[in-house]
Amino acid sequence: MLMDSGTTTFALFAAGAAAALTTSVVKLKSRLALSRAKHRSLGGHSRLSRRVAGLIPFYAYDEAQVFHSDDPPQEIATARREGFMRLAKLYSERYPQTMQLTASVKDGISDLQFTDTYRVPFQFRELVQRHLSAPAFAQSSQGVMLTDLDGNQFYDLTGSYGVNLLGYDFYKGSIARAVGRASELGPVLGSYHPVVADNVARLKVISGLDEISFHMSGTEAVMQAVRLARYHTRRTHLVRFCGAYHGWWGDVQPGIGNPIPARETYTLNEMSEAALRVLRTRRDIACVLVNPLQALHPNASPPADSALIDSARNAHFDRQAYAAWLKELRAVCSQNGIVLIVDDVFVGFRIAPGGTQEYFGVRADMVTYGKTLGGGLPVGVLCGRRELMKRYRDDRPLDVCFARGTFNAHPYVMTAMNEFLRHLDTAEARTMYAGLDALWNARADTLNQRLRERKLPVQVANLSSIWTVSYTEPSRYNWMFQFYLRGEGLALSWIGTGRLIFSLNYTDGDFAAVMERFVAAAEAMRRDGFWWHDPAATNKSIKRRILKEMIAHRLSPKGDDAASR
Ligand SMILES: Cc1ncc(COP(=O)(O)O)c(C=O)c1O
Repeated sequence: MLMDSGTTTFALFAAGAAAALTTSVVKLKSRLALSRAKHRSLGGHSRLSRRVAGLIPFYAYDEAQVFHSDDPPQEIATARREGFMRLAKLYSERYPQTMQLTASVKDGISDLQFTDTYRVPFQFRELVQRHLSAPAFAQSSQGVMLTDLDGNQFYDLTGSYGVNLLGYDFYKGSIARAVGRASELGPVLGSYHPVVADNVARLKVISGLDEISFHMSGTEAVMQAVRLARYHTRRTHLVRFCGAYHGWWGDVQPGIGNPIPARETYTLNEMSEAALRVLRTRRDIACVLVNPLQALHPNASPPADSALIDSARNAHFDRQAYAAWLKELRAVCSQNGIVLIVDDVFVGFRIAPGGTQEYFGVRADMVTYGKTLGGGLPVGVLCGRRELMKRYRDDRPLDVCFARGTFNAHPYVMTAMNEFLRHLDTAEARTMYAGLDALWNARADTLNQRLRERKLPVQVANLSSIWTVSYTEPSRYNWMFQFYLRGEGLALSWIGTGRLIFSLNYTDGDFAAVMERFVAAAEAMRRDGFWWHDPAATNKSIKRRILKEMIAHRLSPKGDDAASR
């Protein structure tokens, strides 16, 4: 009897141990699979990147070091200083009122302080902020031009963060007409303006999906999509791909920029078999978010010039490869009950009237839109399959997925949206979309050819009308290029040369003028010695040197001259 119970206890223990071991092995395997599915860059490791960010000390180059950080011959350092000061003089003489108003409000606008600080790598920023602070105001817009408070005209390459697809004059007209159409109802919220019915009908056709919800920003539309995916799948995690931007909500920004970790977000390596394996096998993934802009630079973060410490930034758009990737992703999501969310807030209407789904030939379960869809006013829209959009359960009345918003479906936004949507149906819009890629690819090729002919170390890559600048020889000074471009009358957004956004009303003549100025800016920058480099320098050696500086400053908190050399 005793022996029997002993044997039974042992058997139970052994079975328990075996089960625990099996569970641990399974857990370990899935942990390993997850690790393998991360991109090897710091951006692929959200927690680590936040920790590393916390270790990097601030230090600034003094005036001599700013021009001397790569040990050039003295005459090069002198040419750089003279070029920099010439630009500074040009800025102060040409933009006095715009600069003065900017300076006078800066300490009261947090956003402005942030963008002005993160325009160039931090070691250089003190001198840049003192002399080349970018004017923050504009007086008017017309065609493809912006005019500042001093009457200077700039070709607009900011694209208003992507909103300006059709040219500012279109949106001015659309807002004016929208105000007229909504004026009888006015800003009544809660009751819909009748135009909502037409918007819903059109968005259903465009997205090929059953239901629509209106929000106030792209960020909110993404939040709602993820919340619904979690509600319906009863799973916790969202998958985003390395480098992809989906707004500033915490769960889609798990790395640097978010003060707390996003524990229910997996950041995976885009266009990788290892990521597909994770999606195929894990049971806790509610949804996958895709930002098709990443097709231009898979797994890379938005290319801001503040991160332009060398010339390693690279981009290349391969439509077929990305379409094949989306197809695989679609299949895996369908197999494993994962909601595929295409985030078309930025790229959507820029590439095709039907956005990513049409352009790459993939079907999504949910699509988010925003930016230009508001016809010039702020908006976010979510379209989804009926069973995913439902916010309550018929059999559990208190189990709801709450989402409301005071300004959702605002009458003026809805009428402006209707102007945009109706424009998509015109012959003019159809013609515009028909030749879009051919036109912008040819323009990019022409500019690249010109740059090559003149042996300038600059190239552009593009996804249709969204462009990014890369640099072909190792340099620590590429961030200066944004200031030369502005000096030539080209307006860029605060992230600089990483993102040039053209509106589709650029004529060949407008583009030729931009090209002239672009090349002139590059030639001026070369003349001023900013692209001089030691023949032995590589992007790696530049990075190594900066790392050494950081370590030296970290170890010697006050920093000294020796540490930054
Ligand atoms: C792909 C994508 N998703 C979401 C957002 C957030 O939109 P919003 O700035 O309107 O909140 C953006 C903004 O740039 C975006 O590019």
